[in-house]
Amino acid sequence: MLNLGVLVSGSGTNLQSIIDEIEAGKLDASIKVVISNKESAFALERAGRHKIPKVIVKKSDYPLKEDFDREIVRVLESHGVELVILAGFMRIVTPVLINAFPMRIMNIHPSLLPSFPGLDGQKQALEHGVKISGCTVHFVEEGLDSGPIIIQAAVPVLEDDTAESLSKRILSQEHRIYPEAIRLFAQGRLEVTGRRVRIKDAATHSGMLVNPA
Ligand code: GRF
Repeated sequence: MLNLGVLVSGSGTNLQSIIDEIEAGKLDASIKVVISNKESAFALERAGRHKIPKVIVKKSDYPLKEDFDREIVRVLESHGVELVILAGFMRIVTPVLINAFPMRIMNIHPSLLPSFPGLDGQKQALEHGVKISGCTVHFVEEGLDSGPIIIQAAVPVLEDDTAESLSKRILSQEHRIYPEAIRLFAQGRLEVTGRRVRIKDAATHSGMLVNPA
């Protein structure tokens, strides 16, 4: 069983999708700790409901961002975490965290990377006028929303979309591909060579690219 640590800042719907998949017996993993940099994050409430240990690490207590990350690493290691899941964690991670968990940190981003990294990926896509957007699960390296891509899901941009309606359509695919990426990792099926992530035994893997209306 794979030990997860989930880092959050907000509502935690991705956290919930991972919890649900584990509780349904579809993901052989255990969330050992949920860490938030925001006391008010609803994700903490979700962790509490499912009896998952939760820890708040506040940026204001650590003037140096490296010290903030050192504390995060300490908490993750003390809970025996093997894979770190960034799920709406609104901080840029430093090499302190990245080097403590090389190719063992995943992030989800609400666009088809490398298009529209950074904040408001959905709004950026809409304003650019793309016809297809989506979401990406990737390993975390130094650099904003960069790092080898594990799974992407494509989502159409509709004529009357707003940032909210597009975000909602993308989010429902996030909830599908994040647990899937973690499952592939847990099954030892992700092989990283340079920027490319090969999925071993891909013939039995569904949902590499989805196109739901
Ligand atoms: C998602 O859109 C995710 O792609 C982005 O932050 C949002 C988190 O949502 N990184 P939630 O907190 O999981 O509901």
